[in-house]
Amino acid sequence: MPNIPTIRWSDDELYILDQTLLPVTVKEIKLSSIEDSYNAIKELKVRGAPAIGVAAAYSLLIDLKKETKLSSNDFISLVEKRAKYLNSSRPTAVNLSYALNRMFNAINNKKDKTSLELYNMLENEAKKIHSEDIDICQKIGEYGAELLKDNTGILTHCNAGRLAVSGIGTALAPMYTAHKNGVKIRVYADETRPLLQGARLTSFELQDAGIDVTLICDNMAAFIMSKGLIDLVIVGCDRVAENGDAANKIGTMGVAILAKHFNIPFYIACPSTTFDLNTKTGSDIIIEERDAKEVINFYGVQTAPSNIKVRNPAFDVTPSELITGFITEKGIIKPPYKESLKKAFDLK
Ligand code: MRU
Repeated sequence: MPNIPTIRWSDDELYILDQTLLPVTVKEIKLSSIEDSYNAIKELKVRGAPAIGVAAAYSLLIDLKKETKLSSNDFISLVEKRAKYLNSSRPTAVNLSYALNRMFNAINNKKDKTSLELYNMLENEAKKIHSEDIDICQKIGEYGAELLKDNTGILTHCNAGRLAVSGIGTALAPMYTAHKNGVKIRVYADETRPLLQGARLTSFELQDAGIDVTLICDNMAAFIMSKGLIDLVIVGCDRVAENGDAANKIGTMGVAILAKHFNIPFYIACPSTTFDLNTKTGSDIIIEERDAKEVINFYGVQTAPSNIKVRNPAFDVTPSELITGFITEKGIIKPPYKESLKKAFDLK
């Protein structure tokens, strides 16, 4: 892996590893304004549900120190305005609004504090969100690794690894942990059209870690499963509804349907911050629709007629009945989800 963290906050400045350039170019860029951050999230320079949340939390602080001469009232309103703006950059991953709400709540109604004190509270909260993310990944890795034995074949989709979070990933965390423990696993990475997160990011980071990884095109998954090469599927997630329906990168639902056909366990690995128990079912999850040019072009080369009608949903929702379990920092949560999720999150 490049010796550059996915997200770095240093001396009041925010840096990210530009993921759109990987794996060919490894380059860190500075986000110098709130608009820079908005665009970086929208254009997937920083991506993956938890990483978007951490980046957004720090983004609130960009150039904010110079606003500390404002009254605390005006300072709080400015932070609220910035948070609303960043929250509109991508709709599906709940981690974005989770992190921004948490940041705002850290200072809301604290009008007795000076603006500089509020700034420091915000900075501490962003650092906390960042370090919690690292610890959570570690635990997901430990619980998930229990499912992996020597020669286990795992299929994954998109990238829910080191590049999508601050730690060792969510879906890839069990693989990193098993590998560290000397377990010899085999991973198949779906390339993940249209933006190739599986090809560009997952195969890149697993290969770099010395894990046995094979890249396949998305339409090869059924064939590979039919040959008995896959023992389980582990993918990441952007939002889980109260009933266990789970939104993840477009194509995930197809993989889950295939897994059901071939009787292969299908797991979702995610932190508890990805569960949105205020959303009743998957049909209430807003699915981001992206620009047609991502489908018309293949990595910068036009591969379809210019004005062709296109659909480009960035996510789909896997129905809960296809999900064998959720690998979380609190353990592996099994169905029936309506009850087990409430219990895991201590809700009535
Ligand atoms: O559009 P992306 O690349 O941000 O989509 C990412 C995914 O779908 C990941 O699987 C998900 O965010 C989990 S990342 C730990």
